[in-house]
Amino acid sequence: MDNKNIKVEWAVIPAAGRGTRFLPITKGVSKEMLNIIDRPTIDYIVDECLAAGIKNIVFIVSEDKDDIKKYYSEDKKFYDELMSKNKMEYANIIDSIPKKANFYYALQKEMLGLGHAVLQAKDIIKDNNFVVCCGDDITDFNEVSPVKEIVDAFKEVGGKTIVGGKKVSEEEISKYGCMDILEKIDENLYSLKGIKEKPKKEEATSLFASLGKWVFNAKIFENIEKTPRGVGGEIQLTDAIHTMIKEEGAYFYNFKATRYDCGDKLGYIKAVINFALKNDEWKEELIKYLKEKIEE
Ligand code: UTP
Repeated sequence: MDNKNIKVEWAVIPAAGRGTRFLPITKGVSKEMLNIIDRPTIDYIVDECLAAGIKNIVFIVSEDKDDIKKYYSEDKKFYDELMSKNKMEYANIIDSIPKKANFYYALQKEMLGLGHAVLQAKDIIKDNNFVVCCGDDITDFNEVSPVKEIVDAFKEVGGKTIVGGKKVSEEEISKYGCMDILEKIDENLYSLKGIKEKPKKEEATSLFASLGKWVFNAKIFENIEKTPRGVGGEIQLTDAIHTMIKEEGAYFYNFKATRYDCGDKLGYIKAVINFALKNDEWKEELIKYLKEKIEE
């Protein structure tokens, strides 16, 4: 197929995890719904997808998580209430959220890992290409959405798996999937020999880490189905990617945007501070306050 005709119009956002590291709040609220100022974390990811022209979004949710669906659904009662009080600006916010994209939901009944979570979208995605973005990994992109970068890379390599990520420090690499590089293709694109999950620092094959964003063709579903349960009894997405590497090749793309791991408390705090410092309304006051705190 002509690479220009390759389409990526779907995104899958796994958000069914327990969020154990964020207990106790995750007993009542999905970690993907934790707020960065006035918007849930997951909405930053939806915006990364929208900025890449993707308007079909499938959330993977668990049975007892209904807050994500509630957020992206219509709320006529709240809308009418705000309108009757002449609070048009707020009413428009309520009205616009469900209209941002076409939202779909797939249920993950058992928490059997990321590969298993992605598989739940199979009946909705069918044979389309799609992006996967972890529901708790957000970026601050000033110019190009990292999702747009990996989608462009997917087209460039003729529709084969792209693992999105960045270079991390030697101290950090053991927290992530570490790339085993075959060859450098261009400035930010590399072909892959393999991926080593959470290697010891001295066993790391590179400092390129997988950071919660991928692009796949529909063959990944067959390979996830063939993947036996691995570490922790979970069906690992990385294992299915290994099969893709063997069968047709896969690539790593080093995206530009700064990434925040909002599944981790410190990563989440950094994200809140970063986005708070971008707001002109209180930026100066906040810097003053932070300086005072540092001096203390
Ligand atoms: P994590 O491993 O960070 O999420 O998965 P978790 O399991 O909620 O984390 P802890 O360790 O208990 O704190 C990354 C993303 O994949 C989703 C999560 O919701 C998160 O957005 N996920 C993970 C699923 O949807 N299903 C799973 O079985 C596992």
